Amino acid sequence: MTSFFPTMRMKTGLCEEEDDMFNIHGHVGNHSRSSILESLRKIIKSRTEDKTKEVVTIGDFGTADGRASLCLINDMIYTIKAGLGEKQAIVLCYNDQPMNDFNRLIEVIRGNGQKSGLALGSDIYPVIIPRCMYGVCLPYNSMDLAISSVATHYLSKQVCQIKNGISLGEADEGEQLLIREQAKADWRTFVISRGRELKPGGYLVTMNVSSDEHDDEARFVEKGTTCVASFVTDMAKDGVITQEEYRATNFNSHYLRKAADFQEPFNSDLPEIKELGLELVSMKPIKHYLQYPTFDIVNKDYVEKMDYSQRIVSSIYPWMYHVLHGGLSESRTEEEKQAVIDNYFDRLREYVLAHSDHKPYVIHTEVVIKKKKTA
Ligand SMILES: C[S@@+](CC[C@H](N)C(=O)[O-])C[C@H]1O[C@@H](n2cnc3c(N)ncnc32)[C@H](O)[C@@H]1O
Repeated sequence: MTSFFPTMRMKTGLCEEEDDMFNIHGHVGNHSRSSILESLRKIIKSRTEDKTKEVVTIGDFGTADGRASLCLINDMIYTIKAGLGEKQAIVLCYNDQPMNDFNRLIEVIRGNGQKSGLALGSDIYPVIIPRCMYGVCLPYNSMDLAISSVATHYLSKQVCQIKNGISLGEADEGEQLLIREQAKADWRTFVISRGRELKPGGYLVTMNVSSDEHDDEARFVEKGTTCVASFVTDMAKDGVITQEEYRATNFNSHYLRKAADFQEPFNSDLPEIKELGLELVSMKPIKHYLQYPTFDIVNKDYVEKMDYSQRIVSSIYPWMYHVLHGGLSESRTEEEKQAVIDNYFDRLREYVLAHSDHKPYVIHTEVVIKKKKTA
């Protein structure tokens, strides 16, 4: 199977009052706020004790347009300046894959009349790093704190075409094995790459799409991702897409990792983990109900159902759009592709309207890792 560099780029959703990432998961990375600020305070304390004067470097991996982490990064700037002085130089590294819309990121950082951006002073240096986050993205021993939210479920490469579906939940045993093996290798590489970049005493705080101890998973719709994916199978059966397009459509992600998967690099005697002095500090599963007024109403009337379905479809649109678009034949015009994609979202909308009492939620696992001062 050919390996490919992931080309996913979030597509602006159908609902305009909030940004895509807020629609998708409610900026769930902010649930890591206390772990991130606690790690930062430890870094500041050790610098004060060691009287270190060098630059503080923060990295956000898989940042998209940077909106999800904006408030958090402003709080980090405030915390660093309060602890190390107003003149403390801070480098903020924004990573995403090269296909990402970095122009949107720049707009978010700059802010505009209505929306404020980063608390940019003359000592704040934002840097864009268009690279795959599974490789090393920064010089060794150069970063104090790395954060990443809702990004590590995307695999670094496609390892199979799922025959009877498009997602891990529909994959057969052999396909599942290949996906899980790739996810294991990717998580190891992600941890080791960040470990190389971190300075001794630095922290990595991640919020990862996952399953939990009850085998539960994110449920934007009542029956979860497998149901969201199943409409593609229906489209293949109905001849809306060809068999070839069906096979080429893949949600290339492991969204069902569990605690043991996040622990694996630390339980496997990997020489890099030991050499770098990486230590698993904590792991916490988080179930987060998405916030929106009609999500809480039982027995909705027609208007409420329409509002509910619009919002649910908006939370699936940005990521599913690319999964669908990526599978369609190059011989189709863009208009034809859009018509097929619209067909998918019509099917999804119909299902959502028929199951509008469901309260959507997402499940993530927060993982905090430290690089010891002396390995
Ligand atoms: C669901 S968005 C999350 C964005 C943001 N961190 C948040 O919390 O909302 C996932 C992001 O991960 C990025 N991503 C996926 N694979 C990546 C890779 N190999 N390297 C860097 N970024 C990647 C995607 O481009 C996308 O912007």
